[in-house]
Amino acid sequence: MSDKTATHTASPITLATLREMRQRGEKIACLTVYDASFATVLESAGVEVLLVGDSLGNVIQGHETTLPVTLTDMIYHTRCVHRGRRRALIMADMPFMSDAAPAQALGNAARLMKEGGAHIVKLEGGAVLADTVRLLSERGIPVCAHLGLLPQSIHKLGAYRVQGREQQDASRILADAKLLEEAGADLLLLECVSAALAQEVVAAAGIPVIGIGAGPSCDAQVLVLYDMLGITPGKRPKFSRDFLSGGHGIHEAVAAYVKAVKQGDFPAAEHTYR
Ligand code: KIV
Repeated sequence: MSDKTATHTASPITLATLREMRQRGEKIACLTVYDASFATVLESAGVEVLLVGDSLGNVIQGHETTLPVTLTDMIYHTRCVHRGRRRALIMADMPFMSDAAPAQALGNAARLMKEGGAHIVKLEGGAVLADTVRLLSERGIPVCAHLGLLPQSIHKLGAYRVQGREQQDASRILADAKLLEEAGADLLLLECVSAALAQEVVAAAGIPVIGIGAGPSCDAQVLVLYDMLGITPGKRPKFSRDFLSGGHGIHEAVAAYVKAVKQGDFPAAEHTYR
């Protein structure tokens, strides 16, 4: 049986699958994806979670930030990914301010699921989102809470830089993680925080934690697909690796990423903040 056939006949990846993987200590591979063809390639190479990130504003639409991305854009790309997927879990980002109030977030998250085919939505923000996470969770909508560097807050932050360096900020991120899990979040995502802070969050959490620039202790790793294929214009982020260079093609590059995540070889020290 080819890998691709195995992917098509195996059972779907659910939140329960991810929780079991965490319990077993088996690393979870996640990548961003925005279209059907790449969704098929990523899944056949072993990626368990397909993130339709609002990073599509940068890498697909050519914007400087994710802020211009609309709900219509997110639904369109999520639907494309859904057509190319057989078993992977599809997570879709709630774009900037589509979750500004709980009721608004509920309606928009429902559209991402009904019209886009998302299985879980991701929201950027800390304690301020607790009521929203609680409402979505109570209404049966799975939620991933994105903490640490919040790209949608770039104009407040001033620059894309490591978060939680000050003890006060680190304590806030840890407290937010606990609060949002208590409110019903099913997954946490930590972006650009020190490996030590990520380790604290993982130890405190009862749910899988996905990391990007958050060191090796996270249960799952995610990268922006175009970064790990080395085709993002400009400088590649420190926390990424070009898996395509020196290889034989995109499928092999993704398979190498999955293998490196599973074996704990990625992220290495040079991709990690102290
Ligand atoms: O939009 C995105 O691609 C993301 C990742 C950076 C995690 O949220």
